Amino acid sequence: MKPSTFRGRRLRRTPALRGLVRETRLHPEMLVAPLFVRPGTRIREEIGSMPGQDRLSVDELSRQAEPLLEAGVRSVLLFGLPEDKDDEGSGAWADDGIVQTAIRELRRAGGKELAIIADVCLCEYTDHGHCGVLRGASVDNDATLSLLARTAASLADAGADVVAPSAMMDGQVAAIREALPDTAILAYAAKHASAFYGPFREAADSAPAFGDRRSYQMDPANGREALAEILADVEQGADVIMVKPALPALDLVAAARAHTNLPVAAYQVSGEYAAICAAAERGWLDRRAAALESLTAMSRAGAGILVTYFALEAARWLREMDR
Ligand code: PBG
Repeated sequence: MKPSTFRGRRLRRTPALRGLVRETRLHPEMLVAPLFVRPGTRIREEIGSMPGQDRLSVDELSRQAEPLLEAGVRSVLLFGLPEDKDDEGSGAWADDGIVQTAIRELRRAGGKELAIIADVCLCEYTDHGHCGVLRGASVDNDATLSLLARTAASLADAGADVVAPSAMMDGQVAAIREALPDTAILAYAAKHASAFYGPFREAADSAPAFGDRRSYQMDPANGREALAEILADVEQGADVIMVKPALPALDLVAAARAHTNLPVAAYQVSGEYAAICAAAERGWLDRRAAALESLTAMSRAGAGILVTYFALEAARWLREMDR
């Protein structure tokens, strides 16, 4: 048999050649920085399980716009920690709710150039920590839909550019679409019941008080079902499709890219972030190289939007590499 003439190493010889044939490049504009807003003023409260991330009071949050824009990051995703919680999560749609207030302040304080994405879910606002209202011990899908639509409407009214339903209730995109014909919806379309959300639940104080989320979030074992979820959200009027978590679900990022014509986002979740941070702290991984390799893999799989707690850092690394 004739030896193959393929020799991959010819084009790997120099940095210039590698740059010439590189298929995937990250850009700060692709990055979305998740931010946690809490009550109070002048507070930056460190999140233990997410080194480098803080719960910010409204004033500190709006101060954060400057370094982000300076580094080239133009999008944020907001999560709120309300003063009080109740059984239906009414803090989520309060006109003076924590995220509504943060959005207005962020807009006022120079965040005009930012794309503001607001998470739409009830788990941070319910005293039981589930993503919808309860009927007995289970989450009532249809009773939750109107509350999610109401939450999305109040976030849009406060000035959110994009609303991002993450509750995994069936029909949530349609319910929001009907209430908000002109607001973009970033749908957490395929969201697994993942072990990688652990640090977030500490950050957002949103761990369920009993049970788990497996009756509404997807079984990580299922890929075809994930595609069905993605197509359902397209059908219901989503503008952007998100897959979450990211590295454990790159096949679904690729499937979303192949089967829809919408922008696709990947969410590198809290546990993916924390794992890299922890290994880097021990000297077991190079933080920068591991973070950028992971983000590049998400992009290679087909995501044009990367939601990541590394956003600010990564944007700065990319700028440095440009020089
Ligand atoms: C709210 C929500 C969660 C995350 C994003 N939106 C938590 C959950 O579903 O339990 C997780 C994000 C992360 O881990 O970074 N439902």
